[in-house]
Amino acid sequence: MCGIVGYVGQKEKKEILLDGLQELEYRGYDSAGIAIIENRQLKHFKAIGKLENLRAKTKDYESDGFGVSIGHTRWATHGKPTELNAHPHLGEYSFVVHNGIIENYQELKVELQEQGVNFLSQTDTETIVHLFESYCEKKGDGFDSFTKTINKLEGAYATLLVTEVQPDTIFFAKNGSPMLIGFDGEDVYFASSDTPIIGMATEVYYLEDGEYGYAKDGEVKLFDANGEKNFTKKPLATDKAMAQKDGYRFFMEKEIYEQSDVMNDTMMGRVLDDRVEFEELGVELFEGINNIKICACGTSYHSALTGSYLLERIAKIPCQVEIASEFRYKEPLLKDDTLFITISQSGETADTLEALKMAKRAGLKSLSICNVDNSSIVRESDRAILTRAGIEKGVASTKAFATQTMVLWMLTLYVAELKNSVSKEKLQSELDAMRHTPKALLVTDRLHEKLHRLSKRYLHGHGFFFIGRDIFFPLALEGALKLKEISYLHAEGYPAGEMKHGPIALADSELFTIALMPRSLHYDKIKSNVEELSARDSTILAISPEPFELADDFIQTKYDSHPMLEFFEMMVVTQLLSLEVSIRLGNDVDMPRNLAKSVTVE
Ligand code: G6P
Repeated sequence: MCGIVGYVGQKEKKEILLDGLQELEYRGYDSAGIAIIENRQLKHFKAIGKLENLRAKTKDYESDGFGVSIGHTRWATHGKPTELNAHPHLGEYSFVVHNGIIENYQELKVELQEQGVNFLSQTDTETIVHLFESYCEKKGDGFDSFTKTINKLEGAYATLLVTEVQPDTIFFAKNGSPMLIGFDGEDVYFASSDTPIIGMATEVYYLEDGEYGYAKDGEVKLFDANGEKNFTKKPLATDKAMAQKDGYRFFMEKEIYEQSDVMNDTMMGRVLDDRVEFEELGVELFEGINNIKICACGTSYHSALTGSYLLERIAKIPCQVEIASEFRYKEPLLKDDTLFITISQSGETADTLEALKMAKRAGLKSLSICNVDNSSIVRESDRAILTRAGIEKGVASTKAFATQTMVLWMLTLYVAELKNSVSKEKLQSELDAMRHTPKALLVTDRLHEKLHRLSKRYLHGHGFFFIGRDIFFPLALEGALKLKEISYLHAEGYPAGEMKHGPIALADSELFTIALMPRSLHYDKIKSNVEELSARDSTILAISPEPFELADDFIQTKYDSHPMLEFFEMMVVTQLLSLEVSIRLGNDVDMPRNLAKSVTVE
């Protein structure tokens, strides 16, 4: 995820910005930049890759005296990680940094281009600075121009803008992406999270959505739709490690809670009123395609399996899924009417990358679904869809899985429309459900507390079976993988209907069955399967919107109208269960033994 820092005051600005950006490194980025105005002079530096590159570029520069300054680390979403696409973005006499996505940037860009504005980057962000200058016309009132600019933007943003027209002022706005203002009694700091300003500022104000304003002479003027407003500063935390985790105990916990928000980013600009749009795809990718093959490893393989149900059922296109390490050596038959999709959080998994190279050698068209732009898999693929989950630090994947699954659901609707295999009514009902997903992913205190209490009953036994049918089978596989990764307890995911063909022999009171029982998909079928296990005395934890009297433990879910909403809600339950079991067992949740986040060896 991108990071923002800003500072207005007398101190040396380059170091404040670079040190601040360093504190945001853990969020992941692929380019960085800073812009400083002092003595009415605008200076800026950008570099791709690590901050060291930016440090090297700025080593002979030192800021001196009063000035304003902004900095940014960019995690590419619109446009490749190049220097031109790196922030801050320049107009003629102003610079802007931005986190989030401007949804209507295409329209704004066209309007500005018609007025003769020249765009240098492929980013949505650049529209902000040109829009500002189109109102400001070099001499105008900076704040009035900034307000007009903000009023035109749709989507999510946290943004800082500096301009030679008012070289003592930083303009700021927040809507949907985080931003805070720090104070040390003299100067004013900005950042997208606490860590860059801990140790410098002593007090903080966390901006609310819809707030904007400016900082000048050590003071901040704050506004919202109702005009100027007062605000109350709070003491700033002092513990950086805690601040990186936004107060959560583990990165994995933070990432589970983040899922609702990142899903909005995944859908932004893609889920439209009446269809799904991927500007990164073209119709030609699907020309002559009658079949889809998906290759992945681990958690990504589970999202692939989920996607295959959706693609066949809704888009009516045959779809097979393969574990990449198996695919590589099975001498697969590859036909050129097959679109080859790879899914990878990191984009670096060796088996997946090699599978992709094989498919390319066989002449297949390729598409990757990935969280890291410019990763090996993205570079190797003809086309790529970024999941926009932001960096994932916990080794056990959570938000990456959620966003991969969402991309596959969106892709299903995209292909279905292209192939004319879905009615308008069905498409509309899928889109409606899709828009509800962020809600289904919200973690309530009540749910988390309940799983915390339940978890103490699941610390022993001779194994767990997560069971489900249809798309809830891959979710069962993923639930079991999460549990074994971080608890080291034996867990398997199984199709519920298959238990009677062998595994039921294991059933006794020390076998824990985690039953995924959605109401919207084959409820009666799975109910009978769970009853069979209950009759053999297996301990049952049922997850369902429908009360189930044979369950030993029961988590009642809220959604019951659409399978994908039930899927995402149950996914959160299984993630929290694993987390709480692992914490009770005293394990290192974020760095489980024997595992690595990115496996670049065969
Ligand atoms: C490793 C990780 C898993 C991950 C798998 C695939 O095994 O520990 O969490 O699912 O690699 O990674 P990818 O980056 O390709 O999704």
